[in-house]
Amino acid sequence: MHTILITGASGFVGSRFVCRWGGAYRLLTPTHAELDITDADSVNSFFVNNRPDAVLHLAAISNTGYCEEHPEESLLVNVQGAVNVARAAASCGAKLVFFSSDQVYNGNWESGLLKEDVHLSPETVYARHKLQAEQLVAAACPGSVILRATWMYDKDVEGLPTHNNFVLNIRRAVAEKSLLMLPMREYRGITWVREAVEMLPYAFNLCGGVYNYGSENRLNTYETGCCFLEMLATGVKAETILQPDIERYPLHERNISISTEKVVRASAYNICFCDTLGGLRMFLEQ
Ligand SMILES: NC(=O)c1ccc[n+]([C@@H]2O[C@H](COP(=O)([O-])OP(=O)(O)OC[C@H]3O[C@@H](n4cnc5c(N)ncnc54)[C@H](OP(=O)(O)O)[C@@H]3O)[C@@H](O)[C@H]2O)c1
Repeated sequence: MHTILITGASGFVGSRFVCRWGGAYRLLTPTHAELDITDADSVNSFFVNNRPDAVLHLAAISNTGYCEEHPEESLLVNVQGAVNVARAAASCGAKLVFFSSDQVYNGNWESGLLKEDVHLSPETVYARHKLQAEQLVAAACPGSVILRATWMYDKDVEGLPTHNNFVLNIRRAVAEKSLLMLPMREYRGITWVREAVEMLPYAFNLCGGVYNYGSENRLNTYETGCCFLEMLATGVKAETILQPDIERYPLHERNISISTEKVVRASAYNICFCDTLGGLRMFLEQ
C-alpha cells in the first residue's frame, strides 16, 4: 500500500489519522473544496489523475441531528457521495475502507452485544442512510471494507477538530458543576479515537465485508458515566452532577452495543479494542 486517499481528512477522525500515519504512507488529503464527493465527475477525475492504491472514506455529514432535519442533504452526501467514491475506487482497483456507524443498529430490540449479521431496521435518517450506503458501496466496489464505528472521543487537541463527546461532556459537567442527564436505557460502545486510528491500517488488509469497529460495552450510558467519573478521581459525587435519564427511548431500550468478535478474528487479533471502560482508563493514563 503506497498511496492512500483520505476523504474527510479535515474531520475528527481524518485529521487524527493524518497526524498519526502521515509519515508512514503517502497520503492524499484533498479538502472538501478540492474534492466534493457529491460531484461524481470530479471524484472520477481525482481518481484518474492520482491513482490511489487505497481509500479511507470518512467524508460525511456526521451530525445525526442535522441529518434528521436535512434528509435530502444527508442522502446526497452520506449515500450518493459514498457511491461516487466507491465507483471511482472500483474503476481504479483501489481498496476501499468506508466508515459506517453503529447507529445502523438503533432500531434493534435485542439485548447484548450485536453482531454484524442481525436483521436491521434503523430508525433515524443518519442510520438509514449509512445502511443504504453500506449496501450500495459493497455492490459498487466489491471487496470494500465497511466499518461500523462506535461513538468516539478525544481530549481537545490544538489544531485538530473535536466534537462534543462523552469525555468532554462529563469533564465540562465536573468543571461547571452542572447537571448532565445520561440515558439509562441506552447501551453503546464508546471508543477512544486514538485506538481506532492506531489500528486502521490493518483494516486495509481485511477481506471485503462489514465489521463492527470500536469498543464493546455492556453497561448503560449512565453507568458508564458514573464509572468514568470515579476514574477521574475528582472527589465529585456522581449524584451531584450525573442524572439518570429514564425517559429517553421509551419504546424500546436503545441497544447499539457491538460485538467485535468478527474483526478480531479476521484481523488475526491485530484489530482488538479495549472495552469501553478499559479504553477510558488507558485514555486517562496517557
Ligand atoms: N465521530 C464519531 O464519533 C463517529 C462515530 C461513528 C461513525 N462516524 C463516521 O466516521 C466518519 C468520520 O467521522 P468524523 O467524526 O471524522 O466526521 P467529521 O468530523 O464531521 O468530518 C467530516 C468530514 O467530511 C467532510 N465533508 C463533508 N461533506 C463533504 C463533501 N460533500 N465532500 C467532501 N468532503 C465532505 C468535512 O469537510 P468540511 O468540514 O470542510 O465540510 C469533514 O472533513 C463519518 O462517516 C462518520 O459518519 C463517526
